[in-house]
Amino acid sequence: MKEYTPRQVKEDPELIRRLYRDALKATENAFAPFSHFHVGAALLTRDGRIFTGVNVENSSYGATICAERTALVKAISEGARTFAAIAVVSQDGEAWPCGICRQVLYEFSPDMLVITGRGEKALETAALEELLPHGFRL
Ligand code: THU
Repeated sequence: MKEYTPRQVKEDPELIRRLYRDALKATENAFAPFSHFHVGAALLTRDGRIFTGVNVENSSYGATICAERTALVKAISEGARTFAAIAVVSQDGEAWPCGICRQVLYEFSPDMLVITGRGEKALETAALEELLPHGFRL
């Protein structure tokens, strides 16, 4: 079975674009009646599955869940545990993961590649552990 690593994804512009497109498509399902900031994420497992997620806001604002954590929770509950990359995008452009999402993603794969950008031709990548140096692990 093919194994996807962060390094392979970084060297595969077509796969990076595919994840970006999946994340952008997912924004159509975002539930963001309060912020009107529609976010989508596409999370690639090391075994090649892609789980998408959207932000799901709530009248009790603190109960809101970000797109990245929605995708992660979907993946974990389907048995996935290790990840190669995540693309995150809002309908307004790039969306680097918030601090809580960085920590939650870090639990599973500190080396995963994070992809975002203002459009297919302006994508940026960074390793999660660059975005969250010295992340917390028990
Ligand atoms: N949001 C995400 O879904 N991901 C991020 O990385 C940043 C913020 C959502 C949360 C909230 O629904 C909206 O964007 C505005 O903060």
